[in-house]
Amino acid sequence: MLYRKEEADLSYPANVKIVEVGPRDGLQNEAQIVSAGVKVELIDRLADCGLSFIEAGAFVSPRWVPQMADSAEVLAAIRRKPNVSYPVLVPNIKGLERAIAAGVEEIAVFGAASESFTQKNINCSIAESLERFLPVMAEARAQGLRVRGYVSCVLGCPYEGEVAVSAVSDVAEALYHGGCYEISLGDTIGVGTPAKARAMVNAVAERVPVGDLALHFHDTYGQALANIHACLELGVGTVDSSLAGLGGCPYADGASGNVASEDVLYMLEGLGVKTGIDLALLIETSWWISEQLGRRPASKVALARGGKTEKAS
Ligand code: HMG
Ligand code: MG
Repeated sequence: MLYRKEEADLSYPANVKIVEVGPRDGLQNEAQIVSAGVKVELIDRLADCGLSFIEAGAFVSPRWVPQMADSAEVLAAIRRKPNVSYPVLVPNIKGLERAIAAGVEEIAVFGAASESFTQKNINCSIAESLERFLPVMAEARAQGLRVRGYVSCVLGCPYEGEVAVSAVSDVAEALYHGGCYEISLGDTIGVGTPAKARAMVNAVAERVPVGDLALHFHDTYGQALANIHACLELGVGTVDSSLAGLGGCPYADGASGNVASEDVLYMLEGLGVKTGIDLALLIETSWWISEQLGRRPASKVALARGGKTEKAS
C-alpha cells in the first residue's frame, strides 16, 4: 500500500523536451576527427527521428577544440527543417560573429560554477566569463537569436571536487537575467546522485523558474537516469542527452558521455511522458553513428534492441 501511495504522489511533466547534444558534446570529445559529411548526415538523421533541438556544433577556438573546427561547413550543409532548432556553442563575440555568418538562429553561452574549470575551459575567471557573455547575449538577442545558457560543474568539479550550490545559483541567475531563455545545469563529470541533484535543482529554482531549467547530466558513474528521474519530479521539463551516450568534455578529465538519448526516451515512454521522438529510428541512428566511430553504442537500450548488423548475424 505504501508503494502505491508514493506512486500516486509522483508527477512528471506530460511532455519533455529533449535537447540532443551528440553532434556537439559527443563529437567534440572524439579523438578521431569525424568528417563534416558524417556530422551532416548525423544531424539530418536526428531531425528525421523527430528531435526538435539538435546542438549542431561550436564556434569556439579551433586550437582549443579542433573537433568543432568545421562547424560552419556543417551548418551550411545540413537540411534545415522548419520547427527544428540547431543551436551552437559560442564563447565570445568572435564566436557570435561566426555563428551569425553561418545563419544560426540559436546559440548557447557556457559558464561554470567552478573557478578552476572556467579557467581550463574558457581561460578566464567566472566573473570575467559573465562580463564576456553579457555583450554576446545582448547582441545575439538584438539580432533575433535565441540564447541558451549552460552552467557546468553543478554537482562537482574535476579540479576542485565539491561545488557550492550557491555558486551554481549565482551563475545560473546571472545568465538567466542576461537574456538566456533556458539554463542547462551540467553535471560535467557525472558525479551527482539523486538527492544531491534534487537539492541543487531546488536551490537554483529559487532564483530561476524551474520550467526554464534543463538537466545536462553525464553518466560517468551511471547515475544520470536516476538523477533525471528525481529532478523531473520537481517540474523540470527539459533534458539534454546524446545518442549512443557519446560525449565528454575535453577540459574535464574522466568525464564520460552524456546520458544516452535512447535510454532517456525509453524511461520517459515507460512513464507515459511524450517527446515526439521515434525511439526505433533513434536506436538505428545510434548504431549507425557508433559504426562510423568503430564501436558499439554506450546506450543500454540500443544494446538491448540491437543494431541491423547484429540482428543479421
Ligand atoms: P583564449 O586563448 O583566451 O582566446 O581562449 P583569445 O581571445 O586570446 O584568442 C586566442 C586565439 O583564438 C586567437 O587566434 C583568436 O582569434 C582565436 P590567433 O590570433 O592566436 O590565431 N579565437 C577564436 N577562433 C575562432 N572562434 C572563436 C575564437 N575566439 C578566439 N570563437 C576561448 C578563449 C574562449 C576562445 C577558448 O578558451 C575556447 O575556445 N574554449 C572553448 C572550450 C570548449 O569548447 N569546451 C567544450 C565545451 S563546454 C562543455 O563541453 C560543457 C557542457 O557540455 C556542459 C557540461 O557538460 O557541463 C556545455
Ligand atoms: Mg556536456
